[in-house]
Amino acid sequence: MKSFMLRWLFALSMLVGMAVSIADAADATVRVDCRDGGHSISDRLVGAFFEDINFGADGGFSAEQVINRSLEISRPLVGWMKIGADVSMTAENESPIKAANPTFLRLATESESPTGGVENRGFRGMGVRDGETYRFTAQGRSTAGAKMKLAVRLVAENDEVLAEQFVTLGGSAWHTTEVDLVPKRTESKARLQLLLRSKGIVDLDLISLCTTDTWMGRPHGLRKDLVQLLADMKPAFFRFPGGCIVEGSQLKYRYQWKTTIGPRDERRLIVNRWNNEFAHRPTPDYYQSFEIGFFEYFQLAEDLGAEPMPIINCGMACQFNSGELVPLEELEPYIQDALDLIEFANGPIESEWGSRRAAMGHPEPFGMRLLGVGNEQWGPEYFERYRRFAEVLQSRYPDVELISTSGPFPAGERFDFAWPLLRNLKVPIVDEHCYATPDWFMREATRYDHYDRKGPRIFMGEYASQSVQLVCPQNRNTLRCALAEAAFLTGIERNGDIVDMSAYAPLMAHEEAWQWRPNLLWFDNLTSYGSPSYYTQLLFSHHHGDQTRPTTVTDTRPSRQPRGRIGVGSTDASVEYKGIKFESGGDVLFDQRDIKDDDVLKVGIGSRWNVTPEVTRQTSRGGYTRAMMGDYRWSDGTLTLQARKVAGRGGLMVLFRNTDGGSRIEWNIGAGGKHQLLSRQATHWDVPVVADETPGTIEDGKWYDVRVELDGTRVKCYLNDNLVHDVDMPDPHIAQLFAIGSVDNDSGETIVKIVNPTAKSVEVDVDLAGAELASDTCQVITLAADNPEAENSIAEPKHVAPQTSTETVSGARFTREFPAWSFTVMRLKTQ
Ligand code: AHR
Repeated sequence: MKSFMLRWLFALSMLVGMAVSIADAADATVRVDCRDGGHSISDRLVGAFFEDINFGADGGFSAEQVINRSLEISRPLVGWMKIGADVSMTAENESPIKAANPTFLRLATESESPTGGVENRGFRGMGVRDGETYRFTAQGRSTAGAKMKLAVRLVAENDEVLAEQFVTLGGSAWHTTEVDLVPKRTESKARLQLLLRSKGIVDLDLISLCTTDTWMGRPHGLRKDLVQLLADMKPAFFRFPGGCIVEGSQLKYRYQWKTTIGPRDERRLIVNRWNNEFAHRPTPDYYQSFEIGFFEYFQLAEDLGAEPMPIINCGMACQFNSGELVPLEELEPYIQDALDLIEFANGPIESEWGSRRAAMGHPEPFGMRLLGVGNEQWGPEYFERYRRFAEVLQSRYPDVELISTSGPFPAGERFDFAWPLLRNLKVPIVDEHCYATPDWFMREATRYDHYDRKGPRIFMGEYASQSVQLVCPQNRNTLRCALAEAAFLTGIERNGDIVDMSAYAPLMAHEEAWQWRPNLLWFDNLTSYGSPSYYTQLLFSHHHGDQTRPTTVTDTRPSRQPRGRIGVGSTDASVEYKGIKFESGGDVLFDQRDIKDDDVLKVGIGSRWNVTPEVTRQTSRGGYTRAMMGDYRWSDGTLTLQARKVAGRGGLMVLFRNTDGGSRIEWNIGAGGKHQLLSRQATHWDVPVVADETPGTIEDGKWYDVRVELDGTRVKCYLNDNLVHDVDMPDPHIAQLFAIGSVDNDSGETIVKIVNPTAKSVEVDVDLAGAELASDTCQVITLAADNPEAENSIAEPKHVAPQTSTETVSGARFTREFPAWSFTVMRLKTQ
């Protein structure tokens, strides 16, 4: 008996010892309390946001290959080019097919044996595949009544003929002509040629070339590969049609759903508001043909098994553009549009709009339960409009949940103005938007922990981590961004009781025709791929569990130390810098004389940087610009340089502590009659923190000596040897490990997600407290790469993609190494 007791005590002491040593050896502990059910997680936590930006619809989702197929855009021959000298090409509008579609293409020749004609270049070329069938259709007529022969060709970029067929148009009445083309090889930049082979005149309209292999085989349907990527993500809802496109730059360009349904030749085309929005990425040929309109969006949502979430214009044009407002007393037609939309989606087939849905082939209702009123509006103008919509819609359709908005940014004046009103109005769901740096997303992983559980539910309706800054063309879809979003999503899932839904935005972009980056999916004319962020979304969508398990992370590693690159910049001024030097502990770490243009990250829309060993200059007088240099790992040291403002109303800028996660400290010198030290350390770009401010001016053309001393959290800034700022600027706390536990009720599995967004692997003591394992093997899914800047591409679409394996764990408490730059999902069978 005694020896048994001794053995038992020894065994117990070993177990305790093991537990202690597990915990001791580990860098961190993730404790998932499996005794406590936590709270339920919304079953529509991860969805999809779609907007026709970056060629998302025409040239993207739509399998149509002909750009400007109905010639209804303001310059009707855009996309069309005449070939050969013996044929003329004009846009005409006499006796069109329909008054709603007045313009058509006319080809005429006097030649008895013509060779010329017209070609359409497609949306940055046409992607065609070897052996696939592409159906050419058009409405046509031969005006003199004679039979007219037309060669229909697909040609490659090098002019090689890939496929050729002939059609004959006979008679002066509009009629359909159709022929199938099967290219002899795959080509991503094909063109469609229509060549006259008889003397006379031919009119053509609604000219189309479309694969027959579309999503679900629907004629004029959607591109299969893109829908498949989206379907694989299993989005719980599908938001459409945007985004700012809902609002339009002016009210006349707002999205009007009624003009996007019914026969395609009657859909009224409008300019795309993203055509010239960004001077650095002009897309003047960007129109909305509405090949894909509201009916197709509802149908797509249904195909995806996602709840449809239309967003309607609330009587306001985009406030970043015209901000045009519909007077309150003229709002009624807008509200009626919303009522009619609900009837179109859900009404019986006897109803006016329900019958329109049925006529399009869908007698069953679409079961729409969500409706957004406005996109990212702000200010009192919005709330007085929202209130009027809500009064009518909520009384007529109480089952449809309305989504309101807190504006374009996740903090700041507009946001603070909106929230008390949103609460007072008792809006069911609030749409928050956020485009910020990786550091912001990691810091905001706790954002919803303290949101009022009795207030509106949250829809994080547009978000994406920006590797550089908002709307910056240098933004990349890096693993670092995907991990920051994963960290943020651990917080969204932890708060899955109050956060009802979330969606990354924008959804997708054409590699050659984008206006905005980053994006979840990328495509060219033939192929497509998901970014690392796509895989973060996919993993959270597939593995979010039904109930949270209270999860605590204890990290024993030292927290992040102040560090970062150096830089110079400008606000509304042309500027010059020379002699830039960064020294630390007696070593010169950076000397402008060794500067290499390629090593400098130049940021700022419209900025004009010129980097040389002698002078680094920025010659544009407008905007907020930056040039960043050096190493992210630099910490303490002294930055010295000479600076002068050449012209402009703004001032100089000196930067330091620029982290790879997008944080920085910014010293603005002289702009607005003051010197100002700003922290953009994990803040939203629009809402920096003023660390110090003092009156001060600078003279145009005069050189100033600038010195910045960095010592731990202490920052001292000198101008011509005068101390201007002396401030303690600690880095905001940003966790280095993120985790969330949940339970999947159907499978009985405990799901643990752990994000390690650091350069070192981490030993974690994972403790499923109170749980017993039904099996010691578990499924592990890892999204990781050696390099945080790793991306996917057309050439390497799955360079960063989840890897699934089976592992054995020692029990409900185990130690595991989580790799550097990784997001891991573990599914453990628990009893
Ligand atoms: O997603 C791109 C744009 O970002 C959306 O159109 C708009 O809502 C936001 O500003």
